[in-house]
Amino acid sequence: MNKYRNAIFLTSLLVMSISAKADGERWYDAIQASQGQGIFQQQCAGCHGSNAEAKPGWQTASGEAAAPPLNGSAHSWHHSLKQLRKTIQMGSIQLGGVMPGFGKKLSDSEIDNAIAFFQSKWPDKTYSDWASRFKVAGKASKSTDVTALLKRRLGNNDIAPATETGIEGVYQTQFGDKFAYLIDGGRYVFIGDLIDLKLAKNMTEISRREVVKDVISQAPVSESIVYPAIGKEHTVLNVFTDTSCGYCQKLHAEVGFLQEAGISVRYFPFPRGGKRGPGYKDLRSVWCAENKLQAMDIAKGISSGELPDGNCAEASIVDKGHILGRKIGITGTPALFSSNGTKFNGYVPYKELIPMLLGEL
Ligand code: HEC
Repeated sequence: MNKYRNAIFLTSLLVMSISAKADGERWYDAIQASQGQGIFQQQCAGCHGSNAEAKPGWQTASGEAAAPPLNGSAHSWHHSLKQLRKTIQMGSIQLGGVMPGFGKKLSDSEIDNAIAFFQSKWPDKTYSDWASRFKVAGKASKSTDVTALLKRRLGNNDIAPATETGIEGVYQTQFGDKFAYLIDGGRYVFIGDLIDLKLAKNMTEISRREVVKDVISQAPVSESIVYPAIGKEHTVLNVFTDTSCGYCQKLHAEVGFLQEAGISVRYFPFPRGGKRGPGYKDLRSVWCAENKLQAMDIAKGISSGELPDGNCAEASIVDKGHILGRKIGITGTPALFSSNGTKFNGYVPYKELIPMLLGEL
């Protein structure tokens, strides 16, 4: 079983090369053809050849060696889909042939996928002759979208295209800051973390970090307020902050220790409660200030002075920060992210934070 799974996983990498012959014009999609490749290699290739091309001399051979090519060059295309399925289910032994039946060994969809695989080897002309002869309709690309039901249920289209997980029939998608897994062609959805116990890896966490890294790397540095590392910069700590939050102030009082340890602190504004939140007005003032570092210090109570007016063009960065933070699932402040996208929940004292950040490198 494991071997079989691995085969599926590896062959799914070949999906791109197969997709050329598996778009909306054929009855199957590229995923079916790629899953069928694994099945075919395991169950059929020994007799029919790994590319369904048969063994040399098959025409004059007998027994197993006489297995015909299924790549469109012989006459497999003279059979309807129904007949092909039946041949594979029943085999030919009871007809005096040598091919075993697979009806008990493979599910209907596995048999279909094996057919999809060898049909992906058929030239377009052969396929279209076959399709018009047996009136086989192409698969509309819509029906291959495993997220279709989810989209219908959630009533919105803010659902990321599904990606393969490496597990047969399980696809990952994302909506809002949540990761979800689609099963059985998108009929079932599971929301949560997917963990590979063998590799001891949280697969969802890996994806989540990628999203954080993407979001942060796309935000212009000029829109953040950076307290740079003193001396050589070892790493950057990204902090979504709200001037009115107690733990943000506490963390801010320790930024100097982080800087001395070679860690730059990059602040993004995140007004808790949005426009009506307690820190919204001051955050705008900080982002409008001529000297933003000084204004941040004032707003967080570690130095005294007046904050400038918060009505300027740059104040809109505060709203952007809120949207950005929501995208990566922030609900409270401070929200800390290391440069590899790992999230630390809430305030962490600098004495613990520094070794964690440097230990990650
Ligand atoms: C033990 C060898 C063997 C295995 C394994 C085998 N086949 Fe066959 N297959 C044959 C032979 C030989 C024939 C030709 C009929 C006969 O002589 O039994 C055949 C015929 C067929 C045909 C009909 C082709 C035509 O042109 O009429 C199809 C379709 C087919 N096999 C598909 C498969 C698939 C799919 C698998 C794997 C799930 C498979 N076979 C596994 C030996 C094998």
